[in-house]
Amino acid sequence: MADVTMTVWRGDPSGGAFTDYVMPAVEGEVVLDVLHRIQAGPAPDLACRWNCKAGKCGSCSAEINGRPALMCMTRVDELPVGEPIVVAPMRTFPIIRDLVTDVSFNYTMARQVPPLAPRAPDAPDGTYRMMQIDVERGQEFRKCIECFMCQDVCHVIRDHEENKTQYAGPRMFIRFMELESHPLDTNDRRELLRQKMGLGMCNITKCCTEVCPEHIKITDNAIIPLKERVVDSAYDPVAWLGRKILRRTKRSAAEADADAPAKTHPTSADGPTPTPTAGIAASS
Ligand code: SF4
Ligand code: SF4
Ligand code: FES
Repeated sequence: MADVTMTVWRGDPSGGAFTDYVMPAVEGEVVLDVLHRIQAGPAPDLACRWNCKAGKCGSCSAEINGRPALMCMTRVDELPVGEPIVVAPMRTFPIIRDLVTDVSFNYTMARQVPPLAPRAPDAPDGTYRMMQIDVERGQEFRKCIECFMCQDVCHVIRDHEENKTQYAGPRMFIRFMELESHPLDTNDRRELLRQKMGLGMCNITKCCTEVCPEHIKITDNAIIPLKERVVDSAYDPVAWLGRKILRRTKRSAAEADADAPAKTHPTSADGPTPTPTAGIAASS
């Protein structure tokens, strides 16, 4: 077989450049295999992150030929023959070294998602009654392997670093939808999504859905339904009147926000504890 040329970004936060490595081609390899042979040969100090080599841990995300992909699931023989394979770190996150990026932004946002707050059991023995269709709705979102490629490709933060303080991103939106559609949940996260999590900044380009290795329909099944719920809560007068007349079953946005792990378990990285309800209008 012919040689394979791998053009790999090497560098650190101060800067870097692409370096070519020409390696003998080996049948059946994925991009991560070639990187491992580069580490074992010409560049033992090449940094890349990986764990399972089976597409399940989400560690080996990178940009291969300009597109976010898992290095362990990208076969070399499916890339254009005779052309260099360009491997770069995910652009949206700060560089640590070579192909390794600091994805802690995602954990910071995850800690701001109010958790499940289950309602009281339906029976004295502590059991619940749920429709199977409601149980199944959230299963799709639990397939997420947290590769953060959807976050990487989302232009709201990819091209605008300044948006990161006010934008949860597609991975977190599916977490919100998983909880919002949970048949037992009593938290209301809609105002939080509208005012602090930047749901309105997503303009449904569907780039996140296109790169998801778990084929989660992020936009169709999470973002669009969330947007509909937020609009209902904020602008639909009939829904507003209904909530006034009918008994409220959901906990308010302020109550839900106060439950978020970042509020209940702050770390030293959080600095002074912010006022949990600031900027969040209580739902009626
Ligand atoms: S659909 Fe929304 S969340 Fe997904 S990439 Fe586009 S702007 Fe970002
Ligand atoms: S939703 Fe898909 S692309 Fe986004 S982090 Fe989860 S598995 Fe990765
Ligand atoms: S090494 Fe686990 S997903 Fe690639």
